[in-house]
Amino acid sequence: MDLLLRHPEATVVTTAKAAQMMEQFFGTKPAQLMAVKEGDTLATGAHTLVFTMAPMVHWPEVMMTYDSTAKVLFSADAFGTFGALSGNLFADQMDFEHEWLSDARRYYINIVGKYGLQVQNVLKKAATLDIQMICPLHGPVWRENLGWFIGKHDVWSRYEPEDKGVVIIYGSIYGHTEAAALRLGTLLSERGVRGIKAYDASHTHASKLVAECFRASHVVLASSTYNNGLFTPIEGLLADLKAHAWQKRTVALVENGSWAPQGAKLMRAELEQMKDIAIVGEPVSLKSAATPAQEQQLAALADQIVSTLGE
Ligand SMILES: Cc1cc2nc3c(=O)[nH]c(=O)nc-3n(C[C@H](O)[C@H](O)[C@H](O)COP(=O)(O)O)c2cc1C
Repeated sequence: MDLLLRHPEATVVTTAKAAQMMEQFFGTKPAQLMAVKEGDTLATGAHTLVFTMAPMVHWPEVMMTYDSTAKVLFSADAFGTFGALSGNLFADQMDFEHEWLSDARRYYINIVGKYGLQVQNVLKKAATLDIQMICPLHGPVWRENLGWFIGKHDVWSRYEPEDKGVVIIYGSIYGHTEAAALRLGTLLSERGVRGIKAYDASHTHASKLVAECFRASHVVLASSTYNNGLFTPIEGLLADLKAHAWQKRTVALVENGSWAPQGAKLMRAELEQMKDIAIVGEPVSLKSAATPAQEQQLAALADQIVSTLGE
């Protein structure tokens, strides 16, 4: 809108839906508007732009623009990441895999994760184009290794695990559920599982937890009982996972309650509303703290997790 205030003579090329959104947000439409739709082209001189719609990636009015002369895809919200650039403009100028991928995943999952089908449609369209460069709205520009990053989006949008591995997430009021969850992590490590990640749901941003649940094939959820319900960070996480259509994962459960533990039953009820979630082993049920005998139950759960990891 700043640009239009400075250049009221400019023509805005956009979708009819985007024009409507502009009016909703700013109370006014651009004076000169060219509404385009799927497949429309615009020759600007040397460049020819082709417009392709990408509804719900991540809003309904989204469209991408392909410059068929320079072979550049202006991909809107697709192929973006959280985070501000610090000088470097291109993904190949940074250690993207180690320093940015987790934020790219967190961005994709939390912003677009619910719309895997729509993303698959966009990927199919993109596969028909000769793309030399991707310019997303958020994050660095891609001019190398495009296939690797597109491949990540393919895995994420098919809801397939990215890594075979275990993420442990616990909601613990006083620390005993935490201790049991971390003990399970040690038992898994002793059985050869590598790259285990454990998160305290009370102290980790929900977007990170959701992204981690999408990354890993196996998730351990451990929750204290809280007023006959789940401890709220775990309750919130499950609601978030459901909203993002999380599916195709293996989950193990640990519950804790000092008089009437409810966690396993309640977590299972939430997980049953999701698609293709397999619950592995017997949930471990603690009463306040793990007893020495429950070490065996945790070990048995670790064995069962390991047996499904190999599949
Ligand atoms: C506010 C509050 C509500 C609780 N509600 C229940 C409950 O409804 N049922 C139950 O068995 N335990 C309840 N508890 C006890 C905790 O679930 C239990 O002490 C806890 O699971 C111990 O594990 P932690 O050390 O990981 O927090 C409650 C505790 C608090 C602080």
